[in-house]
Amino acid sequence: MEQLKVFLDESEIPRQWYNILADMPSPMSPPLHPGTGQPVGPDDLAPVFPMNLIEQEVTTERWIDIPGEVLEKYLLWRPTPLYRARNFEKLLDAPVQIYYKNEGVSPPGSHKPNTAVAQAYYNKAFGIERLSTETGAGQWGSALSMACQMFGLECRVFMVRGSYEQNPYRRMMMMTWGANCVPSPSNLTEAGKKILADDPDSPGSLGIAISEAIEDAVADEKARYSLGSVLNHVLLHQTIVGLEAQKQLEQIGVYPDVVLGCAGGGSNFAGICLPYVRDKVHGKDIAIVAAEPTSCPTMTRGPFAYDFGDTAMTTPLLPMYTLGHDFVPAPIHAGGLRYHGMAPILSHLVKEEVIEARAFDQIETFSAGVQWARAEGFISAPETNHAIAAVVQEAQRAKEEGKEKVMLFNWSGHGLVDLAAYDAFLSGKLTQYELPEEEIQRALRAIEKFPKP
Ligand SMILES: Cc1ncc(COP(=O)(O)O)c(C=O)c1O
Repeated sequence: MEQLKVFLDESEIPRQWYNILADMPSPMSPPLHPGTGQPVGPDDLAPVFPMNLIEQEVTTERWIDIPGEVLEKYLLWRPTPLYRARNFEKLLDAPVQIYYKNEGVSPPGSHKPNTAVAQAYYNKAFGIERLSTETGAGQWGSALSMACQMFGLECRVFMVRGSYEQNPYRRMMMMTWGANCVPSPSNLTEAGKKILADDPDSPGSLGIAISEAIEDAVADEKARYSLGSVLNHVLLHQTIVGLEAQKQLEQIGVYPDVVLGCAGGGSNFAGICLPYVRDKVHGKDIAIVAAEPTSCPTMTRGPFAYDFGDTAMTTPLLPMYTLGHDFVPAPIHAGGLRYHGMAPILSHLVKEEVIEARAFDQIETFSAGVQWARAEGFISAPETNHAIAAVVQEAQRAKEEGKEKVMLFNWSGHGLVDLAAYDAFLSGKLTQYELPEEEIQRALRAIEKFPKP
């Protein structure tokens, strides 16, 4: 029988995260204080994040030890299995091998707890009692709810209203893990009230929910804010995925030609690709491909610019691909990909052409996801279907070029609580959506005056 899965023994779990800042191909522009236009210092961030995570955000040390308490929690579901998708390969009938990391085996069902557990641990160690956060589809909110429960912290989650209404089960998961989940925009914050005054039916966005969560956290000195993607320390925690994958593929003597993932704020894609970016920077010939939605085409149609990470302009100015901080994406079903910006680390690597970005329509991604489910059994999160659509595209190219290719992608989560989205697709209710150019131009006017990176 051909081997289908590669496991790592628990004793082989990586003991350190990998920090790409030690190996960037060129220097990155720093985050700026919006008032002074100067690089932000640790003290500027202190009301928002605990100092131990701020230190992690800026360190350029290559390897960071994973604390024992975090490893102990990771062992609940890690190391995650590496699969070979043989049935999907057969279906695609292309000269490709497809490997994937199954991050859907974590209790909330995605890669998100890799950083949620770490962030809850560091906040607890710093003496914080409550965390406040935002969530799109609810994957991040549920992951942080579980992590807070593990470390005895209170948790409040501002959930993008469009997803809150589409997906009540994630809210129920958050409540089961003891968190308080609020639809955003809400009346709990000034940022939320302002949006509701302009548009009482606002479907919300990640940018708005982030503003609410930050406002909520800084108003309470025992609370801090926690972000599920975008920032350097979040990407750092996710590298455990790629480090495990490297060990697993080494065991079977395989090195990928292409590494792929879907990208919302960039954390799961960074998790699988950054250890390979390191190889690429040191001379390996490898393609690294990020898949994003055509309805929120941050990297494929946005400029690389300084912009706020949130709608109410409370964060530092981050150098990144962006559609403008007041951009409100269409309420597509991949809620976790509806973010106007992109992780500065990934943005920099796209600008340097180390990473390539491609956009996919939601019909194409669900169609790929349904094919996947019928071939491989597992039902993917709508976000993950973007990665699968990119795999399908890459396989078609390999076929056309008559080239053999080994692919590795991050199967970032299961879709068992996203079945309403599958229902909409299967009953023909989903529509294609290409963002009009005027909409991008409108949103970009909001950032015209900012400094240029
Ligand atoms: C399963 C899954 N994949 C991907 C994403 C996108 O986020 P990121 O780009 O940070 O991995 C999300 C976000 O909610 C998600 O839930």
